[in-house]
Amino acid sequence: MSATQAPESAELPDLPELPDKVVVDDAIKVIHDHADRIFLWEYGRDRAQLVTLYNKAMASQWSSVIDLDWSTDVDPEALVDLDTPMLRLVKGAIEVPGSPIKSWGEKELTAYAIEGFKAQLSQFMHGEQGAMMTAAKIVETVPWIDAKYYASTQTMDEARHTEVFAKYLQTKLGDPYPMSPYLEEQVTTLLEDSRWDIAYLGMQIIIESLALAAFGDLLRRTEEPLLRKLLRYVLADEARHVAFGILSLAEFYEHLSEAELKDRQEFLAENTLRNRSRSTTPEVWDRLGVPFEKVAPALAEAAAALKVNPFAGFQKAFFSKLVPNVGKLGLLDANNGYLRKQWDTAGLMAYEFAEDTASDYASYDAVAQDRAAASDS
Ligand SMILES: [Fe+2]
Ligand SMILES: [Fe+2]
Repeated sequence: MSATQAPESAELPDLPELPDKVVVDDAIKVIHDHADRIFLWEYGRDRAQLVTLYNKAMASQWSSVIDLDWSTDVDPEALVDLDTPMLRLVKGAIEVPGSPIKSWGEKELTAYAIEGFKAQLSQFMHGEQGAMMTAAKIVETVPWIDAKYYASTQTMDEARHTEVFAKYLQTKLGDPYPMSPYLEEQVTTLLEDSRWDIAYLGMQIIIESLALAAFGDLLRRTEEPLLRKLLRYVLADEARHVAFGILSLAEFYEHLSEAELKDRQEFLAENTLRNRSRSTTPEVWDRLGVPFEKVAPALAEAAAALKVNPFAGFQKAFFSKLVPNVGKLGLLDANNGYLRKQWDTAGLMAYEFAEDTASDYASYDAVAQDRAAASDS
């Protein structure tokens, strides 16, 4: 036996059989992917718009270490807003007779707002890791070389996004929250699916639209300079990712049968309509020493009395991104307008002609804007 040849009966430690979707321990989760990996022998660059986007992505790489000033002091109390719809709801719940939080004042409300903020950034961090793995899956599974090249740049982008949200939490705010079961299920489904385009549809079109809405909303509300710059740079990347999804899927869906398109329409209907019934983060209450089950009735009563839906503004921003983008894929009108009818019933078609991000990613490009300003001065 040569030195490089492994012995046939090498002793391996006994490893347990891992069933699908098993959580091995608190530190890792195993996901089994059912998609084929595609190796290509065609290296021709025949998708000009993807070539342009790839070149743009390479030129727009930024550094989490050089471009962000981590020495910035962050005061969590100054960071939070006590006048958001969610906080108005909590203030309403204080007034409900028999409320378990009836003794709450400004100090507790501020603590709640800080924990809520940490919970939100934690979902961004986990979602970004999901995006990193989904982009890596696209590198492996998409049958076009230009798309493999582009998705590789996106994988790097998403690594940077995961890293900066994790660092912001760790160095400025404190312990992160676990991934919400809703987001975890959504991302896991994409990573398991055997169809390469479903990873695109779920990540580039649905979750990236969610991210654009959530990051944009936070950017409008925050004055903190480190977080502002971080969000502007992340948004610049995300807008490009959505454009990548639309370019690729619009081409692919042109060649699918009505039955295959129906699958995609159903996927969108199920994932977006379910999103409308999201609830608050129970762990935030647990950390503040108030069991969520105890405060939930008071919150529900306050929501009914005040007619407040804390997610209304966010949903509007999300659907304003999502619906026009899905229209560009031809998925509203395939199968005699199956998705159009579903979304119309849910009131979403009002967003059909909202501003979209398929083609205007350049206007989001804060990295290029900052570099141009620096070279002018
Ligand atoms: Fe991202
Ligand atoms: Fe992204």
